[in-house]
Amino acid sequence: MGFSTDAIHGGQSPEEKSGAVITPIFQTSTYKQHGIGDHTGYEYARTANPTREALERNIAILENGKHGVCYSSGMAATDTILRLFKPGDEIIVTHNVYGGTHRLFEMVLREFGLIFKHVDTSDLAAVKAAMTPATKLFFVESPTNPVLQVSDIAALSDLAHKNGAVVCVDNTFMTPYFQRPLDLGADLVVHSTTKYLNGHSDMVGGVVVVNDDETMGRLRFLQNGVGAVPGPMDCFLALRGTKTLAVRMKQHEENARHISRFLRNHAGIEKVYYPGFEDHPGHELQKRQARGFGGIIAFDVGSLDRADRTLRSVSLFTLAESLGGVESLISHPSSMTHGSVPKSLKEKLGVTDGLIRISVGIEDVEDLEADLARALSGL
Ligand SMILES: Cc1ncc(COP(=O)(O)O)c(C=O)c1O
Repeated sequence: MGFSTDAIHGGQSPEEKSGAVITPIFQTSTYKQHGIGDHTGYEYARTANPTREALERNIAILENGKHGVCYSSGMAATDTILRLFKPGDEIIVTHNVYGGTHRLFEMVLREFGLIFKHVDTSDLAAVKAAMTPATKLFFVESPTNPVLQVSDIAALSDLAHKNGAVVCVDNTFMTPYFQRPLDLGADLVVHSTTKYLNGHSDMVGGVVVVNDDETMGRLRFLQNGVGAVPGPMDCFLALRGTKTLAVRMKQHEENARHISRFLRNHAGIEKVYYPGFEDHPGHELQKRQARGFGGIIAFDVGSLDRADRTLRSVSLFTLAESLGGVESLISHPSSMTHGSVPKSLKEKLGVTDGLIRISVGIEDVEDLEADLARALSGL
């Protein structure tokens, strides 16, 4: 089936008892059992919930994967992936991953003996140089948050597999509508479903998609054993969101292309990051491995003061953390998403005090442009 058909129908069918067309919110913590070991297959809602299962099937289908396992947040999903590894294992991480991922790796998981090497994964030679026999995982974000650097998922997968490692791609920015990492050779895909998959900024969640049955068994065991599960209401909201993923992503991108051009032509802006620009270093690669450039743009206004004035002056764009909702958001990565990343590393990554990130929503693009033009005119 086509992507939109799968998005609307995949993993779901009308509920058997009532015929409800939309998967109900099974808001229960437990299920009636008939006798010892005699039950419907559902015993306790941390272990299994029908609303959650429908979401897991749906996202797995969209990622062209076999299994989906949902968690209470994107960070919980990433944390669970890292629990597949053991002390002494080395993980090569894209050096400019989402700040929360950096914090989880450096300030939580390092204590448990995992070794993280932060490498520019857009540079294959740098990745090769960082590898040792202890390297077990490449954790890749592409394009990265917020400077939109692109890494070659197929080449990295090839390199990892030749050396007995696996690859996980954080596909939050692209969504399966634009990019399917498993098709490119990756082993695991992780999402913050909080973002585009839900698309309406009204829940927090995460998901991991894999093809390998054994990995899925371990992820499922950890989902129940650790307990970072999403509630049924949040699963329902994410499942409602994926139904419109295709139309939303098309509009996000159309608006982002327009806004990226507007920003680039604006005299008060030093640099605009968008992989849709032909002179973006990852443009050709992005065209090869994805079918779009997404809805996130970053731009540098040159200083903290100018960034603050811009952020205070917008009215349609809302200053807030997060991205991927129908409404346009604007943020200051250095103090917000990347607040926990050391200053020296932020500078190296281009996450300057003047850098602003926008998540371009699906409002009328003329209104978005007018809002930014007004805000930037005060600089
Ligand atoms: C690329 C990326 N990955 C993971 C996360 C974490 O997801 P969550 O906030 O759902 O825990 C985020 C959150 O902003 C993100 O932008």
